[in-house]
Formats: sequence, C-alpha cells, structure tokens
Amino acid sequence: MNKNEFKKRRKALMEQVGNGNIAIVASASNHTRNRDVEFPFRQDSDFYYLTGFNEADSLAVFIPGREQGEYILFCREFDEKKALWEGAHAGLEGATEHYKADDSFPIDDMDEILPGMLENKAKVFYPMGRDPDLDHQLLEWITKIRKQSRNGINAPGELVSLEHLLHEMRLFKSTEELKLMRRAAEVSGIAHIRAMQKCQPGLYEYQIEADVVHEFMQQGLRYVAYPSIVAGGKNACVLHYVENKNKLNAGDLLLIDAGAECDHYAADITRTFPISGTFSPAQKQLYQLVLDAQYAAIEQIKPNKPWNNAHDVSVKVLTTGLVELGLLKGSVAKLIEDEDYKQFYMHRIGHWLGMDVHDVGDYKVDGEWRLLEPGMVLTIEPGLYIPENCESVDGKWRGIGIRIEDDVLVTKTGHEVLTYAAPKEIDEIERLMQAN
Ligand code: GLY
Ligand code: MN
Ligand code: MN
Repeated sequence: MNKNEFKKRRKALMEQVGNGNIAIVASASNHTRNRDVEFPFRQDSDFYYLTGFNEADSLAVFIPGREQGEYILFCREFDEKKALWEGAHAGLEGATEHYKADDSFPIDDMDEILPGMLENKAKVFYPMGRDPDLDHQLLEWITKIRKQSRNGINAPGELVSLEHLLHEMRLFKSTEELKLMRRAAEVSGIAHIRAMQKCQPGLYEYQIEADVVHEFMQQGLRYVAYPSIVAGGKNACVLHYVENKNKLNAGDLLLIDAGAECDHYAADITRTFPISGTFSPAQKQLYQLVLDAQYAAIEQIKPNKPWNNAHDVSVKVLTTGLVELGLLKGSVAKLIEDEDYKQFYMHRIGHWLGMDVHDVGDYKVDGEWRLLEPGMVLTIEPGLYIPENCESVDGKWRGIGIRIEDDVLVTKTGHEVLTYAAPKEIDEIERLMQAN
C-alpha cells in the first residue's frame, strides 16, 4: 500500500477528531501458542489502517494541531540482539523515517509521556472497550491528571468511541484498497478452481485445504483471511466446520469457504461442488435454487438500495423454491412470515468485507437499514442446509449443505463481482472437473 494512502487517512481522521482533542489506537499484541512459540502475528486492522506499521507493542497517538507534530508513534526501540532472534523492526528512527510519524517514543516510556499529551485535551477518542488493559490505563492516566487540577491542568472530560469515525472511513474502499481486494479475490478464485481440479473421492478434506492454501501462497499471498472451511457431505450443514478431517465420499458435495488476505484485505468465497464431478439430480435442483437466489440478491446491489433488500430477496427465492421442491409446505408468504425457511437458511445474506472478513461499519442508520453507496464491499452468500436427521423432507435431500458466496463492490451504476474467477454455474463446474 502506498505510504500516501496512510497519510491521507490520518489527515481525514484528524479533521474529524478536531483541534484540542486526542485520538489513541493500540497495535495488536503477540499471543503465546505454547511456551516459546507464538501464534502468527496479525496487526490490528484499525491500527494498520492508520499507520501501515506491522509491529506489536506499538501505540499511535493523533493530536490535531500539536506544534511539535500531530502523529506520534510509540514503539519498540531498535535492539540488535532482538533483531538477530526475531528479525528487523523499525525502531524509533524507522518510525519517523519510514512510517512518517512526526515524533516517536519508546513504548516502555508510554506511562511517563502519554499523560502529558492528555493534559488539557477536551476529548479522548479511542477504541472503547476493546482492550481492557488500555481502558484501564487510560482511566489511570486521567485520574493522575485530575490530581493536578489545582495547578491549572485539566483532565479530558469526555471519552469518545473512535470506532464510529474510523469504521465509517473503512467502510468505503479507495482505489488503492480495491486493488488489494481484487488481488485477494482473484487469487482466492484460482484457489477454488485448483480445489475443484484436485478433488477426488477418497481424499481427505485437509488435503483439499492444502491445495487451496498452496495456491494462495504460490501466488504470493501468505495468509488466509479466516480458517478455511472444507466440508464434505453433511459436514457442510455445520456452518463453521473447520475440523476438515473427514474422507471425501463419491456422491457427496464438497463445500469450501476459503479466502486469502492480500496486504491485510480479505477475500471470502464459498463454492460447493460434487466430489466425483457430477451433481446428482437432487443436488442439482437444490444447487440451482441457491444459485438463483444468489443472482437475485446480487441484482439488488446498487446505490440507494437498502442493505437488507438482498437478504429479503434471497429469502423469497429460496422459500418459493423449497415449496416447489416439496421441502416446505404451505403458502410462501406465511412460511416467510413465520420464518419457517430458517430451518434450512438460518444465516443472513452476507456482511461488509474489507480488512476484516466480517468488516466494520454500521448496517443500520437511525434504526433503518442503511442504503448502499459506491465503494462499499459486501458478500452475498445464500445457502441451504438440510439436516441429516430432518424427517419432514424426502431422504434424497437430507445431509445436503450448499452455500455460494461472492464478494461484491457497489459501483456508481450498480455492482462489480470481485470474485468472478471462481466458476459457479453447474455446467461450468462439471466441465472443469471432468476435464481432469
Ligand atoms: N467465511 C466467513 C463467512 O463467510 O462469513
Ligand atoms: Mn462471508
Ligand atoms: Mn465465507
């Protein structure tokens, strides 16, 4: 990501924070996996969005109008020994030189320096309630400043949630952000193609997961955006199945929900296809129904449409189809009103997508579903999940789980499907799989 992009974001944030106030955002921390081993580090998205700084133990402070510099980064000092064991880190000089902080201080000195920065500020903007340590520390600093009121020093009077400002910014993707999201989407699509090509009865779910991740990494995207779901047969009915440990059986479907991350931006794709390369008649009927619902929902993605329309349309198409196929009985309107469809379609149509797979941003404004605007990216992922023990339906439907998920950008005139690379038409999938 271009360094100017981070600068633009900081400027936009500071304009909203306003002179006389201060904003604070902390980095993510390292987490121990066991003894000397840590989980892979993933920077906090808000922190990265504003700084591009990819180290733990850091804290960014924004003080609009501060003469000595408005953007201050607290971070680890450069330590040669640490560099030898853990690799390069920016240090105080790197923070100003490469990351364009106006000022930098050792994170170990934060407790002495930060209270001074809070003095006489009216409001403190920070991600409230997210990091209990920071919440606690902030209150301690403020208490400390209060004790100096007789010296004419005022403590901040208001703590304000920074998230609202920042997440509204993150909801609208810039050209630079869309470049990364397109790359994540494209590579993820190619990975789903590889999975379709490699799939064979008798393999294990984790072997197909390996193919997906293989493609991500070969294409230069080291990290998954979320743990991949590779669910054969009835496992697809477990919405967050991530064990990926069972054998793939001929005649079953395979549901894969997997996406790569490109420089902190996620793709989120689900495809469902037949393990042996050909859909059975029952699988075909249900699959086509989900696909029709998905197309109908995607049609709703254009500026000024309420966010919820896509969901409502998917419910209507799926419920109508379930009645036609005999899985539900009764009037479509009544089944929708009574939410009977929820036994087979129990999640919503999708979510915002960006640096976080379930990205930030409000879905309602003043109690009403938000209207879509250009630059928003969201997923459209209808599904049907027929429990194995569902006695109210014919046996041929039981244990089938299908979801089809694409990433969709709202454009000025309508939408763009970012994840077009992954095939989803029945004949396209069958052709691709049978060509192997
Ligand atoms: N992969 C998570 C989701 O589809 O929401
Ligand atoms: Mn999703
Ligand atoms: Mn997904």
